[in-house]
Amino acid sequence: MSVTDLPKIELHLHLEGAAPPDFIRQLAGEKKVDLSGIFDADGGYAFDNFVHFLQVYEAATSVLQTPEDFARLTRAILEQSAANGVIYTEAFISPDFCGGGDVAAWREYLHAIQEAATRAETDLGVVMRGIVTPVRHFGPDKAKRSALCAAETAGDWIVGLGMGGDEGQGHQGDFAYAFDMAREAGLHLTTHAGEFGGPESVWEAIRDLKVERIGHGVRAIEDPALVQELAARQITLECCPGSNVVLGLYPDFEAHPLRALRDAGVPVTVSTDDPPFFHTTMRREYDMIAQAYGWEDDDFRALNQTALKAAFCDEATRTRISKTLETP
Ligand code: HPA
Ligand code: ZN
Repeated sequence: MSVTDLPKIELHLHLEGAAPPDFIRQLAGEKKVDLSGIFDADGGYAFDNFVHFLQVYEAATSVLQTPEDFARLTRAILEQSAANGVIYTEAFISPDFCGGGDVAAWREYLHAIQEAATRAETDLGVVMRGIVTPVRHFGPDKAKRSALCAAETAGDWIVGLGMGGDEGQGHQGDFAYAFDMAREAGLHLTTHAGEFGGPESVWEAIRDLKVERIGHGVRAIEDPALVQELAARQITLECCPGSNVVLGLYPDFEAHPLRALRDAGVPVTVSTDDPPFFHTTMRREYDMIAQAYGWEDDDFRALNQTALKAAFCDEATRTRISKTLETP
């Protein structure tokens, strides 16, 4: 058996960002929206840099217009997850794209997504949980509306709040109100930091937003005191090496700090982020990591145990996933 066949836990997957280009083209056709500018000659998503990536991402997302569209999307994504041996996945979902931040509309989108997820759990064996996602470059006011949506639907399915978007805009602390609201509603917290922002952005995330996990966080490697802090406090990083390589943070997997962070005692996990955008899958991530670092079964099993421990689900779900993980 190859390491790519192991059961996997994925903690960092953007729902809209996981939409296959064919799926988006199909919806664009149905809705008569011209999206030809966002695809390359091979039919994949085309972008030149991070900010351009976010623009293409939002253009693709614009054809997802109804709860039913999101239900279809959820099904398509979970089929991919299951084909990659993923048994548990946490998906970032933005109320901004699901009803424009209105709580009543958000409930309808969420209901449709959850229904598709429940069906996939039964017939594909993959468990999904949702993390409500404010989009940083939409600003703190919209983030508050997203946090309200999160607080109103917090429970055993919506388990966290996690900010994405352009880390170059403002400071983590600008969003403290939204994160405080989510924390008070009992939600777990994560934010993208240390991807396009440097170590200071990670310091701000743990100091000003008091997050338990960090999306990416890899640029912590540039500050030894921060690496020590993350290790001492066991703050888990949701690393997405393939995403970082395509977006130009590191030239290849060998140069990625995943191994160095792990060796320094920082809890690291591996996810795909926006798989079709980055021409990756969970199997490919494992394969590339195995090739770059010579990691074997036990290394990947440990990675999944770290992810299980850091998962935002309730304890009953964690116990259930743990049993699936241990099944040979
Ligand atoms: N980084 C930040 N925001 C995002 C990403 C990402 O990789 N994907 C979707 N939103
Ligand atoms: Zn991300």
